[in-house]
Amino acid sequence: AQQAERQRILDTLRLSREQLVEVKTRMSEEMMRGLSKQDHQQASIKMLPTYVRSTPDGTEHGDFLALDLGGSTFRVLLVQIQSGQRQIVDMHQKIYSIPQEIMQGTGEELFNHIVDCISKFLEFMGMRGASLPLGFTFSFPCRQSKLDQGILLKWTKGFKASGCEGQDVVKLLKDAVSRKKEFHLNHVAVVNDTVGTMMACGYEDPKCEVGLIVGTGTNACYMEEMRNIELIEGNEGLMCVNVEWGAFGENGELDDFCTQFDRIVDECSNYPGKQRYEKMISGMYLGEIVRNVLIEFTTRGLLFKGKMSERLKTRGIFETKFLSQIERDRLAMRQIRSILQHLGLTSTTCDDSVVVKEVCSAVAHRAAQLCGAGLAAVVDKIRQDRNLNHLSVTVGVDGTLYKTHPHFSIIMQETLQDLAPQCQVTFHKSEDGSGKGAALITAVACRVKDRGD
Ligand code: BG6
Ligand code: GLC
Repeated sequence: AQQAERQRILDTLRLSREQLVEVKTRMSEEMMRGLSKQDHQQASIKMLPTYVRSTPDGTEHGDFLALDLGGSTFRVLLVQIQSGQRQIVDMHQKIYSIPQEIMQGTGEELFNHIVDCISKFLEFMGMRGASLPLGFTFSFPCRQSKLDQGILLKWTKGFKASGCEGQDVVKLLKDAVSRKKEFHLNHVAVVNDTVGTMMACGYEDPKCEVGLIVGTGTNACYMEEMRNIELIEGNEGLMCVNVEWGAFGENGELDDFCTQFDRIVDECSNYPGKQRYEKMISGMYLGEIVRNVLIEFTTRGLLFKGKMSERLKTRGIFETKFLSQIERDRLAMRQIRSILQHLGLTSTTCDDSVVVKEVCSAVAHRAAQLCGAGLAAVVDKIRQDRNLNHLSVTVGVDGTLYKTHPHFSIIMQETLQDLAPQCQVTFHKSEDGSGKGAALITAVACRVKDRGD
């Protein structure tokens, strides 16, 4: 009877094929609305133009700085690009921490900290005071009217620094550089992480026209026909659009599929009501969904002999890496037990381990399917826009959840294939982050500027 009761609860986390088709359909509709002049303000998905049109052609060259802010690590990079040798990009990078107080303090503190890290990096590289073009991977929704400007629409994930929303992040960065008075910044290109990832992969594979992130947050970008981007003049060629699909569901599009656990996770998050799709998919939230299911099981006496621990009541104990570890196939139950013990969930039995694994699996399975349904909407849009019966496309992908979870990518790809059968999609895992792509985008911008066109 306990088993049946647990299954009944877990069933609320299972989606039928019809429901997944519905997710794809609604996503497609929201994408159209986000692109349209008339409806974009009401659309949950912002479909932000990125001003990235040309892909690298191999003639770019020079030294570039890059910043990578908004994922699980903050990095500063030096990227050296040699022309004519598409493969050879030399990179040096260092990871710096951003303390929680700074993420959630004032914007001035955040940008001062970023600039301090750039200074330290230049010092470390023996380049103190150097002035280089900079590619800024800034993994948040920005309204751009050119490559070197990005108005932060809203913070997402764990960031909350005051005084930044509605501001141009390039200006915030340049102001902090002026305060520091140690080096100059001339050219800056703002790039979403999806875009940087697509570009980094596109350098090696020209068929890469989609960027996907499944990490702390989730999002995608793709090359869209200019004629479909109604907010921008011009009908020729393509431009990369940052979908910002994490926000899908803010108009209630996912209400039919949400469980009580999703609602609790949303209510207890930094931004209730926002980023609803992201909260069902990405690393920052999956562990919280799992924890809430475990709480429910325990309260009903279906787990841990009904004994609630303080640890289980603590937000954030289930990090992405535990989810990935628990589901590793060859892991013995005793190893799961030791993970649970490590999490402070002591008095557990072997049966408890089986149940915890089942919960993790149901939550990750749903996440991967939802992500696959979203991706199906994106690739099918590209196919239809080009009037093709069959599209072959590469997706550049990054993010800790995607890269470390043992089943996520397979389930996502199965769903994608099922929901977009006319698309043949190859996945190209980004090996060296989005900073490389941001530097390439900056290099293209510098190349175009130098030519004066
Ligand atoms: C990194 C990219 O590899 O992946 C970042 O360089 C991106 O730009 C990140 O934000 C996403 O993954 P996670 O798991 O770090 O949020
Ligand atoms: C969040 C951000 C988005 C980013 C994604 C992945 O959804 O809003 O810009 O691409 O996280 O990091």
